[in-house]
Amino acid sequence: MSNTMWGGRFSSGPDAIMEEINASIGFDYRLAAQDIAGSRAHAAMLAKQGIISADDAASIDRGLGQIATEIESGSFSFSRALEDIHMNVESRLADLIGDAAGRLHTARSRNDQVALDFRLWVRDTVDALDIGLADLQRAFVERAIDHAASVMPGFTHLQSAQPVTFGHHLLAYTEMVGRDRGRFRDARNRLNECPLGAAALAGTSFPIDRHMTAQALGFDRPTANSLDSVADRDFVLEVLAAASICAVHLSRLAEEIVLWATPQFGFASLSDKFSTGSSIMPQKRNPDAAELVRGKSGRIIGALTGLLIVMKGLPLTYSKDMQEDKEGTFDAMNALVLCVAAMTGMVRDLKPDTARMEAAAGSGYATATDLADWLVRRLDMPFRRAHHVTGRIVALASERGVPLEGLDLPALQAIEPAITNEVFGVLGVRHSVASRTSYGGTAPDNVRQQAQAWLNRLNSLQA
Ligand code: ARG
Repeated sequence: MSNTMWGGRFSSGPDAIMEEINASIGFDYRLAAQDIAGSRAHAAMLAKQGIISADDAASIDRGLGQIATEIESGSFSFSRALEDIHMNVESRLADLIGDAAGRLHTARSRNDQVALDFRLWVRDTVDALDIGLADLQRAFVERAIDHAASVMPGFTHLQSAQPVTFGHHLLAYTEMVGRDRGRFRDARNRLNECPLGAAALAGTSFPIDRHMTAQALGFDRPTANSLDSVADRDFVLEVLAAASICAVHLSRLAEEIVLWATPQFGFASLSDKFSTGSSIMPQKRNPDAAELVRGKSGRIIGALTGLLIVMKGLPLTYSKDMQEDKEGTFDAMNALVLCVAAMTGMVRDLKPDTARMEAAAGSGYATATDLADWLVRRLDMPFRRAHHVTGRIVALASERGVPLEGLDLPALQAIEPAITNEVFGVLGVRHSVASRTSYGGTAPDNVRQQAQAWLNRLNSLQA
């Protein structure tokens, strides 16, 4: 049997394999709510413009309302023979209201319909994600306030570099997530134009009001070019790019949590809520949630590269290749929402071992820069020379197997005679972090101020 939606030109139905490769209902059923909202707005506009009767529009709206209820309650039966969500809904509408259903598709095509539905889905997801990301920032900031003065090693090249505070480290992620939210917000602003009414590609000869449907669906305006309206998938690509960067941020933190939770680092542990045991090694506590956040970045970045590759050779306008835009996007965005929630839980739950972090902060001659700075400040030495002198002192301490403060004054003076006892005051890690008061530096007072500023922004909802 040929398809009832477009079978006029066809004498037979599709091959079974054709049906399998062609159908998208297995995944685009997720667009049901957006599809129905778009159709309701379209029908109302058609009636207002006198393109269909008010009676037909009312039946269409009632039928669509019922379909929405059926889909929500799970009683709707989706058919693969009807290919996609658009035709499933329209076919059910015909069962419910008869001939009037056939008027809904006036001045519309599945090309502008799917562009609309997917935009709406992406927009809804970005809005939900923003709430999750704000929660994650709040978790960082609250823990940063508690740990504004907890000293830990700061690393470059994963080598102890200079002492920092744990609060400062958490605020670094707050900044990153703040930029992520900004990127999603930018993408949302750009995507908020309505493609409905572009029809197949050229627009329509019916006197439609695209501004009306755009407004009804919460868009800023209709898209300006009908070809672009059905050919464009920038709105997904941009969001997937922002999602990939965000996933990379989460993955970096996940990697740090994995490191911190090792017995070798021992900087922090995760509670039972975010760890698993081993079926064979009774002593193990594995940071699976962190590992999965790290791992899921792969599929998110994969969705972006996958869709870029799908789009790159397509002539204008719509090609069926573009149906491949959905599964990866659904999967990636659902994964990201889950990762954000898991990371928020882990951050709230993390138990830092502050004594151990502070002890580690002093190892590896992490206050050597403080010593060099003291030589510059107190002895008026050029920094390059101070660097050299400090290097010799570090070499001596290393040779003796002691920390910098384990050398006695004569040993220091053998290298630089002008050094006095006062130098011992700057070699401790707490002094080191407290002295980093430059804007954006790690001093506990700075961290408290920055955390409070973030908290204010988060509370006033404009972060
Ligand atoms: N299922 C299709 C998609 O996801 C809907 C658009 C179909 N358009 C068409 N001309 N065949 O892209």
